[in-house]
Amino acid sequence: MRDITVRNPLDMHLHLRDDDMLCLVAPLSAGTFSGGLVMPNLVPPITNLQILHRYKSMIADAIGENSFKPYMTMFYRNYDREFIKNIKESITAMKLYPAGITTNSDSGVSSFDIDTMRPTLETMSELNIPLCVHGETDGFVMDREAEFMDIYETLATAFPKLKIIMEHITTKAATKIVQKYDNLFATVTAHHLLLTLDDLAGGLLKPHLFCKPIAKRHDDKDALVDMATSGHRKIMFGSDSAPHPTSSKECCGCAAGVFTAPIAIQLMAELFIKNDKNIDQSEQNLQKFMSDNAINIYGISPPPKSITLENKEFIVPKIYKNKQNEVTPMKSGETISWRIK
Ligand code: NCD
Ligand code: ZN
Repeated sequence: MRDITVRNPLDMHLHLRDDDMLCLVAPLSAGTFSGGLVMPNLVPPITNLQILHRYKSMIADAIGENSFKPYMTMFYRNYDREFIKNIKESITAMKLYPAGITTNSDSGVSSFDIDTMRPTLETMSELNIPLCVHGETDGFVMDREAEFMDIYETLATAFPKLKIIMEHITTKAATKIVQKYDNLFATVTAHHLLLTLDDLAGGLLKPHLFCKPIAKRHDDKDALVDMATSGHRKIMFGSDSAPHPTSSKECCGCAAGVFTAPIAIQLMAELFIKNDKNIDQSEQNLQKFMSDNAINIYGISPPPKSITLENKEFIVPKIYKNKQNEVTPMKSGETISWRIK
């Protein structure tokens, strides 16, 4: 199999954390990606420009010499117009979390009352600031995303000019809704393209595959794979790489999040490139999914970076660590079939 190249790969949903964890994980994204949309769910969350600028300079220090553009996000609240005008130039999007639904989201949105949200969302729409949404209710864990579809439809209809990104979609239902409204777009993760609930909990429990939203059924995964691998313009890669210390994953009360940053591009090459016969088309679709679609959806111009992958075995490191932290990646110790050249 010949080598393949991805130009300006983008990770449009990335958790870089802060402090020592940031120092450990940031180079693992910045080494291969051209840029990433950085999630704001720190403790405390990123809710003002002061915290945002401080965080951005911590990221710049952590990525060092790598050319990598952090696209910053503000933690969604019902902010007033003045506030939003002030932050516009410093952010790429706002990220909305339903309160308490996932890691560090306690101060998220507790009511989806459209009239309460209207001033903020209208201002965002007018200023062309995309709204990224963690779309889950607090219902039964397998139904949470599907139950959120009504909220997506209400938002998409009430704010037709607002770009709404359905983050880390996991269901067939979401692949349908995203195509139904002009202003809806989606990210999907590597793990949701590769896993079902069976991989996580069908045999011995695999804590490193536990995340929010949880991996779903085979027909859900198949619908996600079909949409992503077709290069559909409305779907883009967002790893949701969410590192937690190994000790917080391998314990009673396992934290939610799958750490995929160091192997994300390789896993996507493995998924998209099936054989030599249709390699040109597959490579083009991979390019759309890993970069071009995000560039078009967000209207961004990432720093140029070309990543070449070769169809050779790569053994995924068991752990990544620095003095203070240890994280376990997805496929820890396993062999994958593509590697960075
Ligand atoms: C993410 C985290 O750990 O920050 N966890 C996860 O399971 N995906 C938060 C999120 O994106 O839901
Ligand atoms: Zn996330």
